[in-house]
Amino acid sequence: MFSIKTVASLAFLFGTFGGVQVSFADSTIPALNHAQTAYVAGCGGCHGIQGISKNELIPSLRDRAGYWLCTAEGRKYMVKLPNVALAPLSDAELADLMNFVAFDLGGVSAPKAAARYTASEITQLRAESPIITDVLSTRRTIVASLVKTCNVSPAIAKSLAGY
Ligand code: HEC
Repeated sequence: MFSIKTVASLAFLFGTFGGVQVSFADSTIPALNHAQTAYVAGCGGCHGIQGISKNELIPSLRDRAGYWLCTAEGRKYMVKLPNVALAPLSDAELADLMNFVAFDLGGVSAPKAAARYTASEITQLRAESPIITDVLSTRRTIVASLVKTCNVSPAIAKSLAGY
């Protein structure tokens, strides 16, 4: 005779319990790639797992993060934020994460001609000091230059400026 414990562990091993088939590759659970996993684990808690922030002190990234790629300073800004530069990821992993953020979450906001981040670009940016004390003033200057030099409407710039 099998004990209840044995039946329970066999049910666990074979994914069957009380005649119900439990699939371990449940199709309702999305399979995330490495960049998406890094985003959910390290960034989504603040920026929202869909890139939509519910907190007015934290900017949304969805349909917006790509705008920063429009100027050289904006491109650097995103990577030199301490939460980004100091993320526990290799340079190649961080490049993948930031490409996911800028091009996938950023969607239409990413300029068509914008280049993707590469691992060596991330290495260079991480070698510079992260933006720590002057984040908001750096951010304001970049938002102003997006209106001047890029195809970013004053309305979008205003929403970027106010998060
Ligand atoms: C503790 C909350 C927090 C976490 C975690 C966090 N961020 Fe942020 N992030 C912010 C805030 C706040 C700003 C606005 C700039 C500032 O004040 O530092 C920001 C700005 C940004 C921006 C620029 C967008 C803008 O409108 O200024 C990007 C891109 C970004 N974060 C990406 C990330 C990524 C990628 C991660 C994960 C590796 C991450 N953030 C983790 C809070 C967070």
